[in-house]
Amino acid sequence: MSENKRASFGGKLSVILVAAGSAIGLGAIWRFPYIAGENGGAAFVLVFLLSVLVVGIPAMLAEFAIGRYTRKNAVGAFRSLSKRWSWLGYGGVLCALFISGYYYLIAGWSLEYLVNSATGQLYSSSLSFTEQFKEFQASWRPLIYGVIFILMTYFIVSRGVEKGIEKASKIMMPLLFVILIVMAVRVAFMPGASEGYRFFLSCDFAQAFKPETIMMAIGQAFFSLSVGMGCMVTYSSYFKRNNNLVNTSLNVSLLTLMVSVLAGLVIFPAVFSAGIEPSEGPSLVFVTLPEIFNGMPLAPLWSTIFFVLVMLASLTSTISFHEVLTAYFAEEFKLSRRAAAITTTAISVVLSLLTFSKLFGIDYLDIFDKLTANVMMPLGAMFTCVFAAWFLERGFMKNELTNQNTINRYVAPVIVFMLKYITPLLIFYIFVMNLI
Ligand code: PHE
Repeated sequence: MSENKRASFGGKLSVILVAAGSAIGLGAIWRFPYIAGENGGAAFVLVFLLSVLVVGIPAMLAEFAIGRYTRKNAVGAFRSLSKRWSWLGYGGVLCALFISGYYYLIAGWSLEYLVNSATGQLYSSSLSFTEQFKEFQASWRPLIYGVIFILMTYFIVSRGVEKGIEKASKIMMPLLFVILIVMAVRVAFMPGASEGYRFFLSCDFAQAFKPETIMMAIGQAFFSLSVGMGCMVTYSSYFKRNNNLVNTSLNVSLLTLMVSVLAGLVIFPAVFSAGIEPSEGPSLVFVTLPEIFNGMPLAPLWSTIFFVLVMLASLTSTISFHEVLTAYFAEEFKLSRRAAAITTTAISVVLSLLTFSKLFGIDYLDIFDKLTANVMMPLGAMFTCVFAAWFLERGFMKNELTNQNTINRYVAPVIVFMLKYITPLLIFYIFVMNLI
């Protein structure tokens, strides 16, 4: 596609909201609290913060630079810079496929809980919340809701980059913040909430600085920032040339960090208030929280509000990896945008079916989750940094970060230095340490 025909996002704020929309999702609201709960609470938050600063942001900037410069889908972007590196783009597409294989299903859980909260059924059932969750998992409904989620995503993506993705993010992201803040304030007034703050904000450094924990934090940073799989390459291919990439990446990271911590501040006080173990694992949001809402006046209302939040956050993320695939099919196979979006949708349905059916007794959900967040995204990010800092023309990164020497003249060298010597080595070191 020629430059002037290619779609682009509007102003600065749109760009931040769209990229933050991709970043903020189940990673921040569902994954972060339980991983932090299992890995040392506030000390984990600190390791996570360091991971975002030292590896997340530089890697995101490498992707931004590559995407905005080439204005192509993930595969096209790497290929047009160097044929020998196009595998990195394919790796991203593959990673987007794996994520599609489980993310929609979990996002679909929030739809079931949203519907059951709004109808009050969740709170009037004679089954306990654990039993309800099990009953739900054993039924066909996860698949049905997962497919509905895929179709909602399709609906937005097929409307295009500006009218679909940008418009949806501009409405949904501010709403998400309002809901989260209302929830955090509400929870603060629950009896026993202080216990939760103490847990979330107390530090277990010994636990948090183990190599496995650092790897988890780095994996969480990549997953949560949508970095290391071509998503930010694809999105930044719609940025305007004069966008301040450094600013955008800082804003997106800050917003993601805020939402992750806020989600922790909603969940942990609530968990302790109900006297439940903090490291409940993946069911934290779907079993523990209803338990807690149950003790509050207007339970169905709060519960509905919360699951609307989870749904919105997930939807702005699903559209972003749907777009990685849609842009890839459209540009690489010369399909119309609609045909490409339909192809992506069909593949997502098939993969969700595979995960749902646990074909051959395999837990695809866990495999896809660990494989993408702990292996593919860190490796993808590492090679993207190496590529941007060592293999592209000297000065490529600096030119992109400074918009041809007009802005960020002091920070750009620092980031280039990190991309060259620190970020990839650190990822590599932690990765190997973790293997042995
Ligand atoms: N960042 C999203 C989340 O935290 C997940 C995601 C990963 C989205 C990779 C796009 C690409 O939920």
